[in-house]
Amino acid sequence: MPRLKIFPIKISNMHHVTSFLRIMNVLGIETSCDETGIAIYNSDEGVVVNHLYSQVELHREFGGVVPELASRDHIRRPLPMIHQTIQDAGLLPGDIDGIAYTAGPGLIGALLVGASVAKSLALAWDLPSIGIHHMEGHMLAARLADDPPEYPFVALLVSGGHTQLMACQRPLHYELLGESQDDAAGEAFDKVAKMLGLPYPGGPAIAELATRGRRDRFTFPRPMTNKPGLNFSFSGLKTFTMNTVNGIDNLGDQDRADIAAAFQEAVVDTIRIKCERALTETGLASLVIAGGVSANLELRERLKKLSKEKQVRVYCPPLHLCTDNGAMIAYAGFLRLQDGSTESLSIDVRPRWPMTELN
Ligand code: KG4
Ligand code: ZN
Repeated sequence: MPRLKIFPIKISNMHHVTSFLRIMNVLGIETSCDETGIAIYNSDEGVVVNHLYSQVELHREFGGVVPELASRDHIRRPLPMIHQTIQDAGLLPGDIDGIAYTAGPGLIGALLVGASVAKSLALAWDLPSIGIHHMEGHMLAARLADDPPEYPFVALLVSGGHTQLMACQRPLHYELLGESQDDAAGEAFDKVAKMLGLPYPGGPAIAELATRGRRDRFTFPRPMTNKPGLNFSFSGLKTFTMNTVNGIDNLGDQDRADIAAAFQEAVVDTIRIKCERALTETGLASLVIAGGVSANLELRERLKKLSKEKQVRVYCPPLHLCTDNGAMIAYAGFLRLQDGSTESLSIDVRPRWPMTELN
C-alpha cells in the first residue's frame, strides 16, 4: 500500500497549498518525445528543481525526431537525472511522496521508458505513481506562472503534435472546442523550416529568421478562418509556402526571411482569429496558451494585443515551461494525487489519447 495519505481538497483556487495539508514533494518524469525532463514540485515552494536533457543534437542530422534513437537515449537519462534532481532539491528519496510520469500521448518507446522508471521507483520506494496526459501537463504549466489563471478559461494547446482549443470550466475537466484536421501548428513550423533549409526544431529557427523578414512582401492564407467553427488546418498553408519557395529563382537570404515572416504571420493570425472566436462562442473571458508554439513571441504579442482590444485576460506559461519539461508533469501529478487519483503498478502508456477521456 502506498504510504501517502491523500486528503481530497477543492483545487479550484489552488497554487500553493499548505495551510491544511502536509507538504508534499512530487517527482515528475517527462519522456514523451525528444526531451528527458525531471523535476520536483513542492506543494509549499512550487517547482524546486527542473532538469532537462534535450536530444536535439542527436536528431538534427535527420531533420526530425527518430523514434528508436529517442527511446534508446531516454533509457540512459532518467536515473542519473533523478538522483541529481533529488540531491539538488536538498532531499533524500524518502522525502518524495509521489511519482508522476507522462503516460501519453507521444512516442510509444519513449513513453515506455518514463513509465517503467516511474513504476519501478514506485515499487521500490513504496510510493503512489500517476500517469499524466502530456497536453494536460502543458496546460497546467500556465498555473506555475506568478499570475496563475483561475477557472473557467479557454485553453489553446499548440505543440508539435497538437493544435486544440479546449473549454476548461473547472479543474481537470476538458471540453474540446476545435482541433487541427491535419498538421499541428508546431509540425507546420518544423516542415516549413525544412523547406527553408533551417535546422530542427523549426519553430525557434523560423521565429528568428522572421525577425529579418519583410511582412508586407507576401500575404499567406489564413486557413479555415472564412468559415464558421473552431477547427484548424495547416497543411494547405504548408503547400502554399512550398509553392512560394519553388516560385522564386535563386532563393536568397532575404527571400527566405520574407517567407518565414509571412508564414509565421499567417499562423499567428489564424490562431488569433480562432482564439477570439472561441472566447466569443463560450462567453469566457480568459485564455490560457500552452505547448511549444506558445513560446512564439509574435503569438504572445498578438494575443496580448487581443487581450487589450477585447478586455479578455491572456495567460502564458513562463517561456522555459512552454516546451517539454518535467515540472509540468510533477505539478499535474501533484494535482491529480491530491484529487484522489490512484493507479496500479502495471505499465500502461497511451501513444494516442484524447484529452477529453480524462473527464
Ligand atoms: O510542446 P513541445 O515542446 O513538444 C510537443 O509536445 O510536441 O513543442 C514542440 C514544438 C515544435 O514543433 C517546435 O518547432 C515548436 O514547438 N516551437 C515553436 C517555438 N518553440 C518551439 N514554434 C514556434 N515558435 C517558437 N518559438
Ligand atoms: Zn509537448
